[in-house]
Amino acid sequence: MIVSCRKGLMMSAVDASFEDHGRLFALEQDAIACPYPIFEKMRRDAPVVWVEEIESFVVTRYEDIVEVLRQPEVFSSAMATGPVLARQVGEGIAALAAADKDDIERVLRRVDRGRAKVLLSSDPPLHRRQRNLVSRAFTQRRVREWEGSIRSMAEALVDGFPSDGPVEFVSAFAVPLPLSVIADRLGVPRDDMADFKRWSDDFTVAIGSHHLGTDELQAMLLSQAEFFEYFEAKVEDRRRNPGDDLLSHLADARLPDGETLSLPELLGMLNQILVAGNETTTKLLAFAVWRLARDREMAERLRREPELIEGFVEEVLRLEAPVQGLYRQAVRECTIGDTTIPAGSALWLAYASANRDGRVFTGPDELIPERTFAQPHLAFGFGEHFCLGAALARAEARIGISVILERLADIRPDVLNTFTYESSYVLHGLRELWLTYRPTA
Ligand code: HEM
Repeated sequence: MIVSCRKGLMMSAVDASFEDHGRLFALEQDAIACPYPIFEKMRRDAPVVWVEEIESFVVTRYEDIVEVLRQPEVFSSAMATGPVLARQVGEGIAALAAADKDDIERVLRRVDRGRAKVLLSSDPPLHRRQRNLVSRAFTQRRVREWEGSIRSMAEALVDGFPSDGPVEFVSAFAVPLPLSVIADRLGVPRDDMADFKRWSDDFTVAIGSHHLGTDELQAMLLSQAEFFEYFEAKVEDRRRNPGDDLLSHLADARLPDGETLSLPELLGMLNQILVAGNETTTKLLAFAVWRLARDREMAERLRREPELIEGFVEEVLRLEAPVQGLYRQAVRECTIGDTTIPAGSALWLAYASANRDGRVFTGPDELIPERTFAQPHLAFGFGEHFCLGAALARAEARIGISVILERLADIRPDVLNTFTYESSYVLHGLRELWLTYRPTA
């Protein structure tokens, strides 16, 4: 078997011992960079297993994960980012509240105004009501209308690369493209993007990381307070002066009976759109270009046959899922395979493992752009909580890669690369990606 990981080389799979999963949850860099041999062992030897570090059962086989996702009434999303983080945030808030400082109190009051179970963390029937209110804002038809402006942004970013390279691709392209797309769609100034990025980084640092210090927690709460303050003012403004932007559509979204979203729901949703949407798309763009820089034959193929770019993006999603897995909580005792799951237990569903499950995908570790999917990959989840922004993320990646292939030749990884990964087993992303290239024009 070949697993493509690490430092740009195709390597033979390391023979991971089953206990190696401890290294993944201890956030060791090589395990985070390439968790796939570990997942493979888990699928084979212990497909549903309790892992103390994350206080959860870990589920690694495709069919088990899909079975769980088909039953949102049994497997709740209330703690979608896991029990450890939920507990740490609760304890941290209590500690900060006890500190009794004026500014902290203001921050907590503000954070409370935006706290609601929404989309990612809500369950049916509430979830369905919320989803019905927003899904029209992100349909494929709507995304098609945005494609022209996505392309213009991608072209402007590539044109800003130094003509003789190298460029650090994550900060020069993979971060600003999705951020400017969503800022434009929401109708908020691109000048505010630095704040969006800071908020987004502060929100996500604790996901899949379970080493949350007081400083990080405080930064996260402060950022949440600023975020809610910023968007509350914008929502009020759009309710008074509606425009033709996403923010106005969301602020005025109505069910047939006239019901709208509450302010905390709206703020929570904007938070997810901004954070869930950007961080993940950034990671997808970086992995896609990293693959092309390592596999120049593939880059040439996609230049000759651009209709394969769409399939290439699907394969990058499958092989390097930016969200490696998310949590559910069993509301009653149940069994998965041979394992009894007591009521109240948390489960980490390893989407990235399911995506390489040989029972479902032939040649599971190979990138095959013309692959047809009899069953979908799980990079965007499955069922009730299937990613709201999947069409947008796919369009950004397809258009971004097309522009890069049109404007840059001879793309290679630069020697400057350190190939370090974000310190998380949930969010899978390269911290930086240095590239050399030759402009085509
Ligand atoms: C490559 C990019 C992306 C990846 C890999 C990704 C991944 C995911 C995954 C795995 C889920 C399922 C959550 C679960 O099972 O509990 C999800 C849900 C969600 N995503 Fe994305 N996402 C991406 C882009 C976006 C974008 C661009 C947006 C912005 C509109 C977005 C907004 C959301 C929201 C709001 C949900 C919650 C949906 C619900 O619970 O009904 N995502 N995403």
